[in-house]
Amino acid sequence: MNDLEKYFRENNKKQIHKWIHYFDIYERHFSRFRNEEISVLEIGIYQGGSLQMWKNYFGGKAKIYGIDINPKCKELEEENIKIFIGSQSDRDFLKKIKQSIPKIDILIDDGGHKFIQQIVTYEELFDHVKDDGVYLCEDLLTSYQMVLYGGGHKRNGTFIEYSKNFIDFLNAYHSEQKSLKVTAFTKSVDSIHYYDSVIVIEKRKREKPHTEMTGTVSFQEKSQNQENEAIKFVKGIGFHVVYGINIFLRFFKLGSFYWR
Ligand SMILES: C[S@@+](CC[C@H](N)C(=O)[O-])C[C@H]1O[C@@H](n2cnc3c(N)ncnc32)[C@H](O)[C@@H]1O
Repeated sequence: MNDLEKYFRENNKKQIHKWIHYFDIYERHFSRFRNEEISVLEIGIYQGGSLQMWKNYFGGKAKIYGIDINPKCKELEEENIKIFIGSQSDRDFLKKIKQSIPKIDILIDDGGHKFIQQIVTYEELFDHVKDDGVYLCEDLLTSYQMVLYGGGHKRNGTFIEYSKNFIDFLNAYHSEQKSLKVTAFTKSVDSIHYYDSVIVIEKRKREKPHTEMTGTVSFQEKSQNQENEAIKFVKGIGFHVVYGINIFLRFFKLGSFYWR
């Protein structure tokens, strides 16, 4: 059992409400921030227990910020825990938050779990997470809950469907189509992790990746000449020919034609 789960199990202070499998996820992505001078923002305060848990876990140098729509939560402020009252789906409110707190190392969205709330929060606050920070949104199970949240398998508008685009943005450096361009996400995200009901986005500034070769040749697959000719063709007019054939084939759902 890790330290967070231990704290949770032994908690006799303010109430905390968490899915048990989240503790391993937190530990995997948050442990490198322990005892550092960091800022953590959690959206969704409830009774205040999770803010106390973060304060205990990250140590005395951490500043913990909380956001909740319930005005009563303001009473839960204490040393190193600052609370803002407002809605996570109110863009103006979130813009004001950005002006009043420093860039954050860790953002945890455990608020209302409606898709619009998760999407607006991501759109407004993702760029307020530091370059090597972590963005975590939990309770994505609501994306599959038809009756309570209007979700469903592959249902447009859910946060899960919205977040599937992140996979394309992450790989956009390799896109050959105008429909997928390099974005700020491509340049600032190192990895995306999906768990049951949780997405974790690890940020890190990234340029277009490249390959290198080291070591000695074991055997010749193709003659170097053949390989060079192929590369020349695909980089020149051949690229446009193969690209055009593919647009045609895909329009008629006839599969793909490719060089290799
Ligand atoms: C699941 S509870 C948070 C649990 C808490 N993080 C914990 O671990 O104990 C969800 C909280 O989100 C708050 N909430 C609901 N809608 C919200 C909104 N639009 N903006 C901000 N907070 C909201 C609720 O008032 C509630 O306190």
